[in-house]
Amino acid sequence: MPAASPSSVAVNTASQVFDVRPFEGKVGAEIVGLDLSTPLNDADFARVHQAHLDYHVVVFRNQQITPQQQIDFSRRFGILQIHVLKQFLLANHPEILIVSNIVENGQPVGLGDAGKYWHSDLSYKELPSLGSMLHAQELPSEGGDTLFANLHLAWDTLPQALRDAVEGRSAVHSYTARYSEGKNAASWRPTLTAEQLAQVAEVTHPVVRTHPETGRKALFVSEGFTTRIVGLPDDESRALLDQLYAHSVRPEHVYRHQWQPHDLVFWDNRSLIHLAAGCPPELRRKLLRTTIQGDAPF
Ligand code: SIN
Repeated sequence: MPAASPSSVAVNTASQVFDVRPFEGKVGAEIVGLDLSTPLNDADFARVHQAHLDYHVVVFRNQQITPQQQIDFSRRFGILQIHVLKQFLLANHPEILIVSNIVENGQPVGLGDAGKYWHSDLSYKELPSLGSMLHAQELPSEGGDTLFANLHLAWDTLPQALRDAVEGRSAVHSYTARYSEGKNAASWRPTLTAEQLAQVAEVTHPVVRTHPETGRKALFVSEGFTTRIVGLPDDESRALLDQLYAHSVRPEHVYRHQWQPHDLVFWDNRSLIHLAAGCPPELRRKLLRTTIQGDAPF
């Protein structure tokens, strides 16, 4: 998967007046009063960056921004990753993946089943994602929420026996772990070419990772992309992963985002897993995603 190179963005703008308002639960905050159509100056950017580290998912309401402005804002955080499914990239903006259930002239306009299973974006890459941004374009009148689970809390509250069972172990992540299930269910998933398959060869990451910026530990496995724990018999690995998944998404670890028009949501894939809750198939849903490259997990 090629990575798009960062661009320089003018940052000599005036400071904006905005608040960071944490949600009631243990994950997420709303950033109120910031207009992302104007490049942020360094001080404002630093506050947003810190809020992202502190709360793991930040919500900016009613952002009237273009795809290029989303790309420019995303690039402030790092190199952008180009999704392997090139057919669902926005025309002239390959840094943007279209996430949508809309079918036009018999062709899906975007990836219709993105996020159907709990996952951390691109955990199947040697360099998984730092974070992702989704910008709402069209929203259904019912459903379509996105859920985020805090994997720092999952680690902090994991029973000691499970901690002992996983600490120091690695797990395999594979893009194709659920691929054929998605294909059978809704035919959203095109057959991968040999070149695409080479871009998503399976990788191994620690089951417990350390956040490279905050130093906090987090579980780093998910039902979407993790296939097994290295060095364990299949049945033991399966049983252990199932316990980790069940613990990870306990209600007290989860923020449920109910989308409003033009929301931009930015989450930390090193701290969270997420899930698209789905909506009735006849209701149109379309969002644009940028994905920022992170470090090799350790
Ligand atoms: C994703 O997993 O990136 C998509 C999440 C969503 O559509 O809510």
